Parts: sequence; structure tokens; C-alpha cells
Amino acid sequence: MDRPELTTHFGYRDVPLGEKQTLVNEVFHSVASRYDLMNDLMSAGLHRAWKDIMINALNPPRSDAPFALLDVAGGTGDISFRAARAAGHGFHATVCDINPDMLAVGRERAAKSHLDDRVDFVEGNAEALAFPDRAFDAYTIAFGIRNVPRIDLALREAYRVLKPGGRFLCLEFSTVDVPGLDRIYDLFSFKVIPPLGRMITGDAESYRYLVESIRKFPKPGVFAEMIGAAGFSRATWQSLSGGIVALHSGWRL
Ligand SMILES: C[S@@+](CC[C@H](N)C(=O)[O-])C[C@H]1O[C@@H](n2cnc3c(N)ncnc32)[C@H](O)[C@@H]1O
Repeated sequence: MDRPELTTHFGYRDVPLGEKQTLVNEVFHSVASRYDLMNDLMSAGLHRAWKDIMINALNPPRSDAPFALLDVAGGTGDISFRAARAAGHGFHATVCDINPDMLAVGRERAAKSHLDDRVDFVEGNAEALAFPDRAFDAYTIAFGIRNVPRIDLALREAYRVLKPGGRFLCLEFSTVDVPGLDRIYDLFSFKVIPPLGRMITGDAESYRYLVESIRKFPKPGVFAEMIGAAGFSRATWQSLSGGIVALHSGWRL
């Protein structure tokens, strides 16, 4: 008897599980060079405030104490650069991303901002990290986890590479929970973002995927349960900007 093929979502489309990553990689290959500009335009600069809240929660040591951050799906390096600027001399970040085009933009930015000695860029898949067990003090993933086909595998890998006492932080789009804002947000997402994507990157479809994938991502309570199921303790979340984004936290104890 044939085994049923496992499927998942690519935006609103059902696709075979094994195909999602290829489609996601095409999206980020297409938008890499204008990715940072689009983030500012799409969020009216708000992504900067959300990322700062994540860095405040991370609270890297300001001292010379060693602190190793793994920034998965780190793309062009935003989270790692912010953390490096907030931290002391013992800080080091490894940006791990599956997409070489995003990493190339990140390496250029690191060199321009003289952060290349504190931030490394490594190609890799969140589902199968090429790092030893218990290697990092913290693991961050910002606007990345919803693109990963097998989220449960990625969460288990996050747990594996963290030292006991290590912190897991995930910033991700969430579910708008303010009446009225939800309608404006939907209108903006579906009527403004794809045409804006076409204007800036020549690619409306990639931005249609991005807004659809937000709608398909589990609600924050469900995602917190998934974080707990991966082994993390004290899985909590903080809703930001009326639920547009949530910051999830867990500890490897
Ligand atoms: C929306 S970007 C986020 C980049 C960055 N963290 C930020 O906040 O600006 C999502 C990133 O996830 C990466 N990604 C998608 N699937 C991945 C996987 N399986 N493993 C690692 N990175 C992945 C993409 O290549 C892309 O760079």
C-alpha cells in the first residue's frame, strides 16, 4: 500500500513537505538584495523596535564574559549586529542561514560596520544544525521559524545546541488581537505589501507568500506548547503591537 505523501503549507498552498524548502529558498534568493529596505518599508520601521525588544530580553553581558549566540535564519545579520552592539567584548555571534544570497548581504554589512570579527556567517539548515551539543549560551530566530518546513525538528535542534541555562528567543509574526486593527492589518497585508514588493524587488509573489505564511503560522499559545514539547522550560510569550508580532521565550534548564 502507498504511504500518503506528507504535505505542508507554502503560504495558502498545500505542497509536499519535501518541496517547501526549495520554494522558500527561491523567495529569499529573489528578495535578498532589497530585503532590508523592504523590511523598513513594510513595517514603517517597526521591525527595528521589535528587534530591540528581542535584544533587551536577550540581555547579553556588557562585560568581557564569554557569550556565544547562535542566530538561526539570521539572514542579513540584523539580530546579531544589534546584539553585538549591545554586548561586551566576550560576545560572539554565529549567523546560520540556509540561503547563501542572504548571507552574502550579511557579510558585506558586517564588514562595512566593522563587526566582522564578532559576527560569523555560516550556511546551514535549522532542522539539522552542524554544531555540537550544548555549544551556545543563547539561540535567536527572528521572522525565520515560519519558513522552516519541520518546526518541531528546528525546536529540538535549538534545545540540543544550547547549554543548560541557555535561552531560546523567537520573534515571529503572530495573530492580531485588537478589534478593528485586524481588518486594517489584513487590508495592508494583502493590498499593499505585494504591490510594494513588486515595486521594490520586482517580485509580488514572494511577498504574497510572506503574508500568507503569517496567517498559517500557529497561534501563540499553540506555538508555546510546541516550544515546551521540544524540552524547553518556562515557555512564555509577549504580544507586541496588538499581536502583529510575538516574542517567544524558553529556557534549557
Ligand atoms: C524573513 S528572513 C529573517 C532574517 C533575519 N532573521 C531578520 O530578522 O531580518 C527569514 C530567513 O529564514 C531563512 N531560512 C528559511 N528556511 C531556513 C532553514 N530551514 N534553515 C535556516 N534558515 C532558513 C531564509 O533564508 C531567510 O534568510
